[in-house]
Amino acid sequence: MRGADAPEPLLDCRMDALQTVRNDFLTDDWHAAAHRYPVTSPATGQTLTEVADCGAEEGRAAARIAYDAFQSWRLTTAFERSDLLMRWHDAILADRERLARVMSLEMGKPIREARAEVAYAAGFVRWYAEEAKRVYGEVFPSHVADKRLLAIRQPVGPVFAVTPWNFPLAMVTRKAAPALAAGCTFVLKPAEQTPLSALLLAEAWQAAGGPAGTLQVLPASDPVPVSDALMEDPRIRKVTFTGSTEVGRILYGKSAATVKKLSLELGGHAPYLVFDDADLDRAVDQVVACKYRNAGQTCVCTNRIYVQRGIQDAFVERYVEATRALVVGDPLDETTDIGPLVDGAGLDKVREHVEDAVAKGARVASGGSALDGLYFAPTVLLGVTPEMRLMQEETFGPISPILTFDRDDDAVRAANDTPYGLAAYLYTNDLSRAFRVSEALEYGIVGVNDGVPSVPYAPFGGVKQSGLGREGGPWGIDEFLEIKFISIALPR
Ligand code: SIN
Repeated sequence: MRGADAPEPLLDCRMDALQTVRNDFLTDDWHAAAHRYPVTSPATGQTLTEVADCGAEEGRAAARIAYDAFQSWRLTTAFERSDLLMRWHDAILADRERLARVMSLEMGKPIREARAEVAYAAGFVRWYAEEAKRVYGEVFPSHVADKRLLAIRQPVGPVFAVTPWNFPLAMVTRKAAPALAAGCTFVLKPAEQTPLSALLLAEAWQAAGGPAGTLQVLPASDPVPVSDALMEDPRIRKVTFTGSTEVGRILYGKSAATVKKLSLELGGHAPYLVFDDADLDRAVDQVVACKYRNAGQTCVCTNRIYVQRGIQDAFVERYVEATRALVVGDPLDETTDIGPLVDGAGLDKVREHVEDAVAKGARVASGGSALDGLYFAPTVLLGVTPEMRLMQEETFGPISPILTFDRDDDAVRAANDTPYGLAAYLYTNDLSRAFRVSEALEYGIVGVNDGVPSVPYAPFGGVKQSGLGREGGPWGIDEFLEIKFISIALPR
């Protein structure tokens, strides 16, 4: 599918020298960027490698290349794109172990979770390889006899994506797979901390036969100049971002000048409501899985746990026991449950949230302090009250604030009392309560007795200040499509 006149790609991500053993150096090859920056391991603080450091110049070049590549990519058939995506999926899975280790090295994700993320990331590619062939149009009735009316769905155009460090593979494929399946070209600025996983994905895309310029990766130590260049460029027609609400607001504002289509997956402050009819052991397992996944560094990790008074003591006892059993350590160790936090700023925020809560009267039932390096002990806090910082801001760390409630209405009111609306959870064995509470929660995702509901084929996204649009499933590809109305008057 690579045409003779295909544009020169900005990135030739040859990473043959990438080693799979700890602390060995990674290499890449970057044609245009004049500068490089180091990528470090949060577990050891050591530099893993240096990567191209892109700025405004590379951003402008990437927009031009994406636009030129779009002219031929949009004309490929859905069947061709589907085959290519399937080859990409197979290439990702064939490289599963190396991808997992690189992810673990660059952001500290425990290796077992990293392997699961590779499968999750490949799952998006597979889903959209299939979905590419189901971008249907419609023929609809006219009020006059000699007209035929059609609505067709076409790719929106070149896409600019900004992805976070907490899922260095899956948040890329959750955006890139539907975009490429729809016929869009894709320019990615990965998180400063995790460019290597994204570069490996681009390498796999190239190896699968991805045409030059369809998927470009622009690492940058300072996201602003490169992002501004792409945001200002009228040839970029769509922006998709996962990250904080603060940055999401800025991108929302910047997209206005060229009226780009926009998807935002922003911050959350997920409540977990545990009702007194819950099966306690199962409830504890689910809350632990939800809270401590990725050391608490996901947008959908619970940030506040509300337990109904009748089961509070029994729940807390088992929850503290389960928290103490978690293994904190080297992310490459097979037994590790909790790795380091991603960087010093992340650690500082977690420490400040715990100190603030304790200063305002919270009691530490387990953990409560930083360990060596960027590690923080999994922590359970009791006696938590609404004015504490961790009740208003996303902590993004292994901290479990536990609160008590009496009536269902009180729990729902407290759960909804936030500007965020990404994910919420409840545990109950009462079916009618499960429906009533799910429907009353002002959130985009509700997990009923399920602390880890995300799958590639379900809609992921929030309401209120948690974002716009949905990723995943059939909903996810709509974000990269425009609808065109064609009205045909039949010649008499
Ligand atoms: C996120 O934290 O943004 C993604 C979590 C998920 O996909 O479950």
